[in-house]
Amino acid sequence: MRMETRPFGSTGESFPILSFGGQRIVDEHDCSEEEAIEIVNRALDRGIRYFDTGWIYSGGQAETRLGKVVKHRRSEMWLATKTWDTTRSGARRQLEQSLERLQTDYVNEWRLHNVWDFARLDAFTGQGGALEAAVQAREEGLVHHISTSCHTDPQILVEALRRFPFDSALVAASALDHFILSFVEEFLPLANARGVATIGMKVLGLGSLTHEVERSLRYAFSLPVSTVIVGMETLAQLEQNLDVAESFVPMSDEERLAFFQDIVHLVQPSKMPWKAPDWGNPTQWVARGRGRDP
Ligand SMILES: NC(=O)c1ccc[n+]([C@@H]2O[C@H](COP(=O)([O-])OP(=O)(O)OC[C@H]3O[C@@H](n4cnc5c(N)ncnc54)[C@H](OP(=O)(O)O)[C@@H]3O)[C@@H](O)[C@H]2O)c1
Repeated sequence: MRMETRPFGSTGESFPILSFGGQRIVDEHDCSEEEAIEIVNRALDRGIRYFDTGWIYSGGQAETRLGKVVKHRRSEMWLATKTWDTTRSGARRQLEQSLERLQTDYVNEWRLHNVWDFARLDAFTGQGGALEAAVQAREEGLVHHISTSCHTDPQILVEALRRFPFDSALVAASALDHFILSFVEEFLPLANARGVATIGMKVLGLGSLTHEVERSLRYAFSLPVSTVIVGMETLAQLEQNLDVAESFVPMSDEERLAFFQDIVHLVQPSKMPWKAPDWGNPTQWVARGRGRDP
C-alpha cells in the first residue's frame, strides 16, 4: 500500500507522511552499522524519501552511516542535515564535514539546529552568524533549502520567520506538545500561510509515548504538517511505523479527545524534557546527568 503524500511547502517536492529520523542508527542506540544500512535501504524500498540527520549526532556516526547508503542511492533521497555551530565560519566547517560524511556534494536542506532560546536565534541570524554561511552555501549549490528547528517555544520560530524566509522548519508536534507552548497552535498557521514546509518531530515523545505508537502517529499525521519524522533504530520499528502510515485515516475529533484524556497525565517535565529551554544546551547535559545528544 502507498502512503499519503503531501507538498513540501513551496519547494515543488512532495513526500510521504512518514519520514526518517536518522539520529538513532548508531552504536549508542545499540544499532550496528550493518543494521543501520539495512534499515535505511528498507525505508527507501518501502517508499520513504525524506531523511533527517545532523552534524552533532553521535560524533558523526549517524551521518557517516547514512552516507553509506547515500553513496548508492543519492537520487532517491532528500537529505536534511544541520549545523550546531552558530558562527559563520564554524557552521561552514560543519557543512563541509557533513557533505564528506554523507558522501554527497549537496544537501537538499540545511538547518540551523535547535534554536532553544532567543539568544541562540540572535547568534544564528546575527552578523557573522551561521545564517550567512547558509545563504552563501545556497548560492554555491551546496545547500538547496535553508531550514531551522525548535522544540521549546513556537514564538522563537515566529520571530525567526520575521527575520528570514526559511524554506522549512522542524518542530515538536507530539500529542503532549498540544498542552504546552504548542507549535501546532502558534506556528503552523503562520508557516502554512507563507508556504513554509513543516516537519513534525517528537511524535513518540522521545519514548514517553511508545506504548501508544498507533494513536501517536495517527495524531501527528492528522496535523497540517508536510511530513513527520520518527527516530527509528530497528527494522521492527520501521515496519510498524510504515504499517500505521500506510493505513492512515485521519483522527476524528472524538478520537483525538479520547487520546488526550488518556495521555494528559504524561504532561510533566520528566516526560517531555525537550520543552526545557536549556535541554539542548550541552553545558547543561552533565549537570542533568545526560550524555546523549539532543
Ligand atoms: N532539534 C532538533 O532538530 C532535533 C532534536 C532531536 C531529534 N531530531 C530528529 O528527530 C528525529 C526523531 O527523534 P525524536 O527526538 O523526535 O524522537 P521520537 O521520534 O519521538 O522517538 C524516537 C524513539 O521512539 C522509539 N520508537 C520509534 N518507533 C517505535 C515503534 N514502532 N515502537 C516502539 N518504539 C518506537 C524508539 O525508541 P527506543 O527504541 O529507544 O525506545 C525511537 O528511538 C531524530 O532521529 C532526529 O533526526 C531533531
